[in-house]
Amino acid sequence: MTRFPVTALRSVDLGTPDLARSEAFYCETWGLERAGTADGVVYLRASGSDHHVVALHHSECTELKAVTFRLAGSDDFDAISRNAVREGAVLLCAPGPNKAPDGGMVMSLRGPEGGVLRFVHGDVRHAPRPLRPEWPERLAHVNLNSTDVDRSAAFYERALGFRLTDRSAAMAFVRCNSDHHAVVIADAKLNGLNHVAFLMPSWEGVMRGAGRMIDAGYPIAWGVGRHGPGDNVFAYFIDPVGTVIEYTAEVLQVDDSYVVRGPDHWVWPPGRTDQWGIAPPKADHVKAAQLAVRYAA
Ligand SMILES: [Fe+2]
Repeated sequence: MTRFPVTALRSVDLGTPDLARSEAFYCETWGLERAGTADGVVYLRASGSDHHVVALHHSECTELKAVTFRLAGSDDFDAISRNAVREGAVLLCAPGPNKAPDGGMVMSLRGPEGGVLRFVHGDVRHAPRPLRPEWPERLAHVNLNSTDVDRSAAFYERALGFRLTDRSAAMAFVRCNSDHHAVVIADAKLNGLNHVAFLMPSWEGVMRGAGRMIDAGYPIAWGVGRHGPGDNVFAYFIDPVGTVIEYTAEVLQVDDSYVVRGPDHWVWPPGRTDQWGIAPPKADHVKAAQLAVRYAA
């Protein structure tokens, strides 16, 4: 079995021009909970053990400030930083004690596409508690726009030890554990954030969460449906400041025996964009939102 130096996608740092509105949305409607605040940053947890899955920062515009991954061991910092720099990243902060509330050790670098990647080990975990079917458990994946999908995927493989799970015409799906993907890299004219997906305990939870969003005035932006690569159920939304977010469930679990399939395999029949044939064609305003959020400078 492959040993992955990165074991999980832990959290995302999102910049918002309206911090109070974003916090209220994520806590009252999306299903996260305030885990704490420090230096103006609001940390939001899900029902799983991660200290937080979203950190909200006030910023001039909606932007992706960082993606944080958890490392298997403290020994992995050196190899990751060495390999990442060799593959075009810039080390921003050498491994050291993390002064932020999630604790442990932290290292950060800027990836070849311009996004900040943070790596933690020994980070604070919450005690397990019963999963709530209608609320997010943890992050499922982050989908990043890239002007060079194959180069970006190669960075995740060569520098961060991910493995390619599938490759469609427009996207590369890479994994760092048994989830079919933790990161998706999408073909685009700009680098940045496409969307962030939150794992629900079941597809019933995706449906109930979607209903809660509709009740609160946030219509489904795309879905519901069941994806091809990864086989996960999905419903997409746009948050109050323009970030595209997804409820998902039933992500395919894979191991080393999984056979990578390419663009020739991942072709939809005419008129389809999901396995069930329920999801309507994606609206132009949703496609625009999936291209609008850039990496923080
Ligand atoms: Fe997704």
